[in-house]
Amino acid sequence: MRRTDFREFTSRKSIQSARGPRKIEDFVGTGIIETTFSKIKPCRSFCRCKRPHCTKNHHTILPGRMRNLDKFVIRGNKPLCGEVTVSGAKNAIVAIIPATIMVDGLCRIENVPQVSDVIIQLEILQQMGARVRSVNPSTVEIDCRGMRNARTPEDLMRRLRASYYLIGALLGRYHRAEVAMPGGCNFGGIRPIDQHVKGFEALGASVSIKNGFVYAEASEGLKGAHVYLDVVSVGATMNIMLAASLAQGQTIIENAAKEPHIVDLANFLNAMGADISGAGTDVIKIRGVRRLKGGVYSVIPDQIEAGTYMAAVMAAGGSVTVRNVIPKHLECITAKLIEMGAQVEELDDAVRVTRAQPLNKISLKTLPYPGFPTDMQPQLGAALCLAEGTSVITEGVWENRYRYVEELRRMGAKIQVDGKVAIIEGVSELTGAKVRACDLRAGAAMVIAGLAAHGVTEVEEISYIERGYENLVEKLQGLGADISRVTVIEDDAIPMAR
Ligand code: EPZ
Repeated sequence: MRRTDFREFTSRKSIQSARGPRKIEDFVGTGIIETTFSKIKPCRSFCRCKRPHCTKNHHTILPGRMRNLDKFVIRGNKPLCGEVTVSGAKNAIVAIIPATIMVDGLCRIENVPQVSDVIIQLEILQQMGARVRSVNPSTVEIDCRGMRNARTPEDLMRRLRASYYLIGALLGRYHRAEVAMPGGCNFGGIRPIDQHVKGFEALGASVSIKNGFVYAEASEGLKGAHVYLDVVSVGATMNIMLAASLAQGQTIIENAAKEPHIVDLANFLNAMGADISGAGTDVIKIRGVRRLKGGVYSVIPDQIEAGTYMAAVMAAGGSVTVRNVIPKHLECITAKLIEMGAQVEELDDAVRVTRAQPLNKISLKTLPYPGFPTDMQPQLGAALCLAEGTSVITEGVWENRYRYVEELRRMGAKIQVDGKVAIIEGVSELTGAKVRACDLRAGAAMVIAGLAAHGVTEVEEISYIERGYENLVEKLQGLGADISRVTVIEDDAIPMAR
């Protein structure tokens, strides 16, 4: 898929509302079916006449609900070789974009990944009155000075988890916020925000949740407080840091999360004039300032994207140099891959990963940083399906982050799940199958399994994956993978043969 800058994403016209009979060629060139129709015969799964290699558009699509069934098609069992460059950290930028709301000036942000979570957030800011300009595919300028504290667009808000950062930012700037409850990947039930609320209330806000919205108001303004988090929470740590940046006085967050993206948000805010210290430790001090000015900031590389490519090499074999990384952020991932039998060479801003032997079984428990990241658990789960012996994974952060296991079983994996523990009995090979992405990292796991599997794997519901991985297909193709993105249009109405 050619690289698109932010403008194109935010202005793409939907073809969902088909008005009357639509012909297939209506969609060609809209960027929706660029791979299916532009140069090859209509995809068989689209031409339902089932005639082999039907070459005529003899179906007229009746009005009805159109659905894009985007999928990745992977022909696996090919080693990965070459170099791949990591993009900016998704979990950092989804907090930095809302943070610009609090800045009284122009923010220029570099190394921004083109992923749908970013596009949605920029769209939300634009709909609330901010000016967003794409300088180049990875640099965006945001000016929120003209923003009105309008009610945020609910439909967009519910499509991502990180919409909750708007609460901290709007509270920080306007002392009030009205934000739809966040969406995000499903890990076994709703994802609580009680620690976020605890922090906002400590700062002097009253918070209520009704009709699917979070209402927060601090009529007397926000005042610094001492907040002790009951749970190590990335989101709550970042959200309280946002609101406290413009509060009166000092705020201390104890039992704070320490992920690299938390340090990145603190560095962004400090670059705009905030006064934050201790980010990356479990005690963060924020001295409220009167104003945040504009400035320039570059987002850190995405440790999880880097780890995903490293896990892909372990599953498919080969040798890959992963560029634009901060090796320190990868230490916990690298240590586990070495246990699995990887050869890892650390360079200044790159790591070279080689699978030179069969995979060893391992035991793994996910924990908050600097422990092994939960966001790498599905990816390693996929690779461990091919290890010699039985591996054990314990999910230490989320209730149920094993929805991908059912999909791996369709490819021949032998995995038993009991609560937060997965027992993975290694098999000699996985076989290609039709599978789906249950969430962002589960989707990445399915791609990894497809790269290693014998035969063809089709991964559906790839919109989850494209929330957090920029140009995944092109990057994997650059490593020799046989992967393509296919879009077919399904309609609920029965096509009428002419
Ligand atoms: C962030 O989610 C990430 N998302 C997640 O990554 C990641 O899995 C998670 O942190 C843990 O590292 C973003 O940054 C957008 P938490 P977040 O608050 O902030 C409990 C990905 O794949 N909790 O650290 O929602 C919670 O139930 C995504 O990129 C409360 O009890 O996670 C969980 O058990 C998926 N009350 C634990 O804390 C709260 O108020 C950690 O959650 C908040 C959280």
